[in-house]
Amino acid sequence: MAQAKYSTHLGMVDILPDEVRKWQFLENLIREEAAKFNFEEIRTPIMEQTELIVRGLGQLTDIVSKEIFSFSRGEDNYVLRPELTAPVVRAFVEHHLDQRGGSQKLYYIGPMFRAERPQKGRQRQFHQFGVEVIGSSDAVADVEVIAFMIHIYNKLGIKNTTLKLNSIGDPESRETYKEALKAHLKPNFMKLSDLSKKRFEKNPLRILDSKEEEDKPFIENAPVITDYLNDESINHYNKVKEYLTDLGISFEEDPYLVRGMDYYTQTAFELISPDLGAQDALAGGGRYDLLVEEIGGQRTPAVGFAAGMERLLIACDELDIQLGNEKSVDVYIVTLGDAARKWGLSQLPNLRAKGVSATMDYMGRSMKAQMKDANRENARYAIIVGENELNEGKFTFRDMKESDEKSLPFEEILGLF
Ligand code: HAM
Repeated sequence: MAQAKYSTHLGMVDILPDEVRKWQFLENLIREEAAKFNFEEIRTPIMEQTELIVRGLGQLTDIVSKEIFSFSRGEDNYVLRPELTAPVVRAFVEHHLDQRGGSQKLYYIGPMFRAERPQKGRQRQFHQFGVEVIGSSDAVADVEVIAFMIHIYNKLGIKNTTLKLNSIGDPESRETYKEALKAHLKPNFMKLSDLSKKRFEKNPLRILDSKEEEDKPFIENAPVITDYLNDESINHYNKVKEYLTDLGISFEEDPYLVRGMDYYTQTAFELISPDLGAQDALAGGGRYDLLVEEIGGQRTPAVGFAAGMERLLIACDELDIQLGNEKSVDVYIVTLGDAARKWGLSQLPNLRAKGVSATMDYMGRSMKAQMKDANRENARYAIIVGENELNEGKFTFRDMKESDEKSLPFEEILGLF
């Protein structure tokens, strides 16, 4: 085979038809289950203003400082969206969605872009499904969001997951904690990794998320944020834990869990799978009570999560979970000669109008090759038409599974569906 002249960009993949069937199955499942939770779908553009993403996620986050795909055209700066929380909040503010009343329960499915080093479960164009509930500070909202996330995995049969839970408090609690963390790390500052040294002043909480070996001993016995939460933050966290327990959703508290964006407040969580290897986070999320205000709206509490769809597919693969069906078609019309081809072409719409999927040969192949093709396409039935059949007005209707055939007028064949 000749070498293709063009290929996709690094970390961006084509999803070919056999794979797409799995994606469609997943997407349908997510939509059906979202409807049961009364979440409404929202769709926003692939590109956003750079300023929104920088402001929303935080200048010093890995995503903004290293992973953004950006370009300009004339006066305008564009970024390919790396996530959807900030864009959904932008849409909420821009379109005054608060005026619809109550809390907005939104979900989305779509592609995101981050210029990360590709590896298994990590791509530069990847897909998320997620939920944002904007307008409620009640722990019920946190727990419904988490319940929906877990529900999707359970529904698919992915049960061997760990829900990690933490509270990173409100800004007041976090300031006190930052000082305590810095005081703990300071005596060993010179032993920290270069990245952690950089984060020390501006974003010390991110040091807790360091993957560098040299940081580990200092993280292991660092003070924990949950000891620094003020009363309001503790109350909220306790309610989340209580409601999760009521629902029978088990969780593991991880006081060192910090998330990759600056917008988080209070609840933070991640869903981890042992079936994924290095990139083991299936999904993550939390509260972001200050983001709406940060982006120019009125202060409005909110909570959400997003899940990686490629990682979900990898987990299904590892666990041998079948998604969707094999390629198939209900009827394949096998034709011999021009008149039969013309007849076949004109009958396809009648089959389709009955809700039957139907196809025929487009390549002028022999009857034998068409029968082979019908098998390859997993056709359930074949209608075989030649000159004799046309003259008699009766067609061979073959059950491909049972290898059994009958000669019937076309109306009778239609009547069988
Ligand atoms: P995140 O943790 O950055 O959160 O991403 C959520 C999930 O997207 C990850 O757990 C992972 O499964 C998947 N993911 C992230 N990056 C990649 C990648 N490069 N390749 C493949 N999968 C990836 C957010 O995006 C937040 N917006 C979640 C949220 C919603 N928080 C509140 N509301």
